[in-house]
Amino acid sequence: MQKGADLDLPYLTMEEDAFAADPFPHFKKAREEHPWLARWHLGYVVTDYQATRDIFAMEDKMSMMYDGIVDIMDAHDTPWGEFQKRHMLSMMGDPHKRLRDILAPYFTPRQANIHRPLMQRVIKELLDEWVPKKAFDFEEFASFFPITVMCRLIGADPKVIPGLRSAMEAIGLSTSMDKRWLPAMQEGVITMENFVDDLVADRRANPRTGEEPDLLDLLMQSHDSDELTYRELADVLIFLFVAGYDTSKNMLTLTMRLLIDRPEIYKRCAEDHEYSRLVVEESFRYASTTSNQRILEEDIVYNDVLLEKGSIVWFTLSVAMHDPRYADDFETFDPDRDRTNRHIGFGLGPHICLGQYIARAQIHEGLHEIARRMPNPRTTGAQGYRPFPGTWGIRGLPIEFDQAEEDVTA
Ligand code: HEM
Repeated sequence: MQKGADLDLPYLTMEEDAFAADPFPHFKKAREEHPWLARWHLGYVVTDYQATRDIFAMEDKMSMMYDGIVDIMDAHDTPWGEFQKRHMLSMMGDPHKRLRDILAPYFTPRQANIHRPLMQRVIKELLDEWVPKKAFDFEEFASFFPITVMCRLIGADPKVIPGLRSAMEAIGLSTSMDKRWLPAMQEGVITMENFVDDLVADRRANPRTGEEPDLLDLLMQSHDSDELTYRELADVLIFLFVAGYDTSKNMLTLTMRLLIDRPEIYKRCAEDHEYSRLVVEESFRYASTTSNQRILEEDIVYNDVLLEKGSIVWFTLSVAMHDPRYADDFETFDPDRDRTNRHIGFGLGPHICLGQYIARAQIHEGLHEIARRMPNPRTTGAQGYRPFPGTWGIRGLPIEFDQAEEDVTA
């Protein structure tokens, strides 16, 4: 058996802007040097799809590294630092399971389908506002979609949306490990805390009557019956916004970028609602947005390599299936492909994305309607990229498009 520390592993410069602009060749080269493991300046990087699945199955030997992130950022006893240590992704074992069980009934595939008409209304209203501009930054446009859906799901006043958007842009950089963003992240958490306090106080003062309980009602009932403390209630609400924001926005923007180069597929999304769903799944396979990270609580052995207790391990969900071993003709974007190996863009194990069915439904409904209302999109300028570690994606996607010939809003 070899120790990971003694191996001459490929080194990935994941923190660099040039890496974020085109990560795939870096992973390809790394896998040529070692089939599943690489290194970067903050630990090991698992570069292989099957190894990610196998090592995630040992998740009881790992913990979340949010305390560690707060250490690295030197931000203990600050609003951002304390939120990082408390939120749902930072919890393990029974406390995590208790919270997940309270939330689970609201996040089933059936519930997500119930929300589809709301998602359709939101995207139609956004398109009514943005399409007349004829050209805009698609990333900016896409950013309003998940926040507006979430606000509608919990009955928040839409006037809060611009403020929340800035806060979540900042908080979304929480796992970038870059201290430059810290002041904005602190401000972002304070904004979200104030928003949630006002939201709960407002619902207490103005309870909804004669309607099905919404997510906010459900959480407040759990607080009233002592299942959740007020802090847990507030943190969960903030986390749901944060977890669904840049992930959904980046995924929709990455998908748009892929489809601009594939006009036939884009056109079919306008015509075929079910096909749009396959396109979304293929986008997750081709290039999804997140990479996860864990700390090893004990030594683990995989494929005769010992990874040492205390090591940080990064799992690159976003490129796992861009690999000939798991997807035939992997560089081809093919929505009709065989999906024997399922993508892992929503993670694995006990923390697998709670909002995955909402996210899928949202991007599916969004893509179909966008393709109907914005034919023939073209880029009109250079795009940037978000840091690869954490929630990767495109930063700024200026586009123009044709006007739809018929009034498709009817
Ligand atoms: C494209 C969109 C999305 C992607 C790619 C995504 C991805 C992920 C991933 C990879 C994880 C696991 C992180 C880890 O194990 O370290 C996660 C967790 C989570 N996601 Fe999502 N997510 C998306 C949208 C959403 C939405 C819309 C919501 C809520 C409405 C949401 C709520 C959550 C929550 C609450 C967790 C933590 C679950 C837990 O700790 O048990 N996500 N997400």
